[in-house]
Amino acid sequence: MSGPKKRVYIKTFGCQMNVADSEQMAQVLAEGFVPTDRPEEADLYLINTCAIRRKAEEKVRSLLGSLQVLKQSRPQLLLGVGGCVAQQEGERLLAAAPHLDLVFGTQGISRLPELVRRAGRGRRLVDIELAPGFPPQPRRHWAPGAIKTLVTIMQGCDNFCSFCVVPYVRGREHSRPPGEIIGEVADFLAAGGKEVTLLGQNVNSYGRGLSEPLTFTELLRRIDALPGLARLRFATSHPRDLSGELMAAFGELPSLCENLHLPVQSGSDRILQAMNRGYTREEYLRKVAKLRRVCPGLSLSTDIIVGFPGETEEDFQETLDLVRQAGFDQAFSFKYSPRPQTRAALLPERVSGEVQAERLGRLQNLLNELTFEAHQRLVGRVREVLVEGTSKRSQEELCGRLRTNQVVNFSGPRELVGQLVQVRLTEAHPHSLRGTQVEDSSITWPLAADPQAPQRRLSC
Ligand code: SAH
Ligand code: SF4
Ligand code: F3S
Repeated sequence: MSGPKKRVYIKTFGCQMNVADSEQMAQVLAEGFVPTDRPEEADLYLINTCAIRRKAEEKVRSLLGSLQVLKQSRPQLLLGVGGCVAQQEGERLLAAAPHLDLVFGTQGISRLPELVRRAGRGRRLVDIELAPGFPPQPRRHWAPGAIKTLVTIMQGCDNFCSFCVVPYVRGREHSRPPGEIIGEVADFLAAGGKEVTLLGQNVNSYGRGLSEPLTFTELLRRIDALPGLARLRFATSHPRDLSGELMAAFGELPSLCENLHLPVQSGSDRILQAMNRGYTREEYLRKVAKLRRVCPGLSLSTDIIVGFPGETEEDFQETLDLVRQAGFDQAFSFKYSPRPQTRAALLPERVSGEVQAERLGRLQNLLNELTFEAHQRLVGRVREVLVEGTSKRSQEELCGRLRTNQVVNFSGPRELVGQLVQVRLTEAHPHSLRGTQVEDSSITWPLAADPQAPQRRLSC
């Protein structure tokens, strides 16, 4: 492309993987477009979509409908829909929205510049090809001062949980070659970055099909060894494939944060089986107990679906019971939503919307209590905070996260943004904690005796 750069606005829905994909879209388009956060001045408006629940899909359709007005006022505007709904709907989206120029799927990002060029010549296009293998990734660049980043290490999913649309919209599971991943992390660290989150739908099965076989734990070891890495996280782990080797890594790798997202989905064996999850509640709880032995300070988060077809009050009680036993620090909970092509969508015995809402309310009350209790247990302790930014209200008000992932607000100079600082936690709130910076933390860490003490650079 020649001439002055045009402006691209990208609206992102969905999971962290979509956030990473949107960033990649901006990077592949960088030759011709600069990103803008003002949709009304965009020359190219891309919607990166999520199909995980019907509500997510409806949001996209409603935004797309509302953009008809913008398109009428700026006829030169190119409008594209990408991501999981695009992959699922393809031609149907184009047919339903005459003002839409371009539909591109979850693996079409590297082809985006060419698609945009062709759409700019007046062609209406659909590209939802799912190719085998991990697609080529452009070399990434980070804005000065970038603190944390997402690194995609896998694509797709082969698990076919009966409720889940991901295998249909993201295709088969493929692992990214380790050299590319390590190179990308090293580039980020060289640019001054501190925290890396590795992304895949089921990172525990990383390495299958690679020419040089490598387990996920070995990949973590290699990344942990890179100089300058302060914090390493990953998402998501499938409980069935959580290996002893990976659990042990929480006690061994200094950068690996004491924080694990381990979606359980249900506490009832009957429902877990109907979901095709491949583990029982007992197996799940056994793994949680083992993790807590290896790493007593671990914070555990999860995903739970309520009102899966056939779920009775007894099944739901088992979920509540498992939640109490596992002691989650944080959880995301959802009403079951039937998705196209999935096996569960064909099941009879749908749970009514009212019952789903009522169960979700009860579950969320319990989860909120547990999160608040976890925050209260931290009050009085000194913990390492990675300062991620200043608050919207004041430049003197800083915001960061613990290694265990809780949000912490405290007062301090903005020069601390991007730094690791020690903070004494003083107040627990439902969604965050408050604290005060501790200058010399060496005296205040009761390291050896206290299982809740910071684990950085110590065995858990
Ligand atoms: N790969 C991850 C999950 C990705 S989807 C894993 O295996 O855990 C994120 C979450 O959305 C899921 O954990 C599940 O709780 C929820 N979810 C997926 N499909 C859903 C559906 N049809 N209805 C409601 N929630 C759903
Ligand atoms: Fe969906 Fe299951 Fe794959 Fe997670 S593991 S993405 S829930 S099919
Ligand atoms: Fe949604 Fe696709 Fe992620 S369906 S949850 S954006 S993989």
